Amino acid sequence: MNVNSQNFTSMRKPKTFNNPERFVEGWYWVMPSQNLRIGEVKPVTILGRKLVVYRGQDKRVVICDAYCPHMGAHLAEGRIEGNELRCFFHHWKFDNQGICVEIPCLDEPLPIKLKTWPTNEGYGMIWIWTGETPQQPLPFIPDLQQQQFDITFGFHFVKNCHPNVVLINAIDAQHFNTVHKLPLEVIFDKEEYNHNVIIFTNITDIRRGHSFTKLIRSLFKHPINYSICYWYGSTGIVSLGPDFLGLHMMFALRLLESGKTEGQTIFMLKKRSHLFGRLFNQLIFWVTKLVGEHFIQDDEKVFRTIRFDLKTPIKADQAIMQFINHIEQQKPLLWSTWNLARREVEPQATQNQWRDDLTND
Ligand code: FES
Ligand SMILES: [Fe+2]
Repeated sequence: MNVNSQNFTSMRKPKTFNNPERFVEGWYWVMPSQNLRIGEVKPVTILGRKLVVYRGQDKRVVICDAYCPHMGAHLAEGRIEGNELRCFFHHWKFDNQGICVEIPCLDEPLPIKLKTWPTNEGYGMIWIWTGETPQQPLPFIPDLQQQQFDITFGFHFVKNCHPNVVLINAIDAQHFNTVHKLPLEVIFDKEEYNHNVIIFTNITDIRRGHSFTKLIRSLFKHPINYSICYWYGSTGIVSLGPDFLGLHMMFALRLLESGKTEGQTIFMLKKRSHLFGRLFNQLIFWVTKLVGEHFIQDDEKVFRTIRFDLKTPIKADQAIMQFINHIEQQKPLLWSTWNLARREVEPQATQNQWRDDLTND
């Protein structure tokens, strides 16, 4: 296939995609829920910002900035009293909204507030919303929002490239053949579900045409549907369905310093009742981890050495370009401060958009 040179020259460098200083406002994973017991407070650094996370007696998780608004002591050294956090240094106390409720040497507390952030728990994880008010629920699969899942954690990993670049692996059609040696022809259809969510679904039957896929075809009578649902360009949920066991794999990623990635995979299976169903799910989780490990090994070299720069896109890269455009349209925040990143004024609105309608001869 040839590159259409006219489209190639009209492309602009993305401003948010693969930018080590930027991320999209959204929900990001913090730590497994089970790692934070009632009455515990812990330090965390998320997207460059120092925070503390604690669980009060009411079991609710609170996340606030790490440094005390009095003199800057680190609040993870403090202690939890009921649902409130007391700084260890001069014993000022803050409630779960961050409001100062006690200063021991004064009759009345001062009207000051410790910055708190919206939190939620789901998929066995604590999550944080990186803005004032959540604009979305936690990441979910649109058609399956009501479904009950069994959950298990897969891999926790660090990669030497940006989360956006890690996630496009799942829609990089060419590399299924070249890196993973899968004899599949994968062409994606995209659906922008909302401002923060884009879904790519293969429109080719991946059971078709090769001896490898004959085995799959004999096991599954309906076309196997591969799709990935991206939230904020940082969390992706891969689904194999509709009749493929009800298995989904969430890749929850966040940006580390120098444009690296910290990630956690979370496997989800349609809940099955009775002992046999539960054992069956455990078996599928086990197999999924084995297969997942294999795929991760294959991609290891890519993530360790790539300097992403899509200089020469072809038709087979179309889904990647659509993903880049989708990220460019979301609310960009700056790493570490979480302030709004400046949006450069474009001479023409359309120039903000990468051409993703490549046609190849
Ligand atoms: S620094 Fe926290 S109370 Fe003084
Ligand atoms: Fe891959």
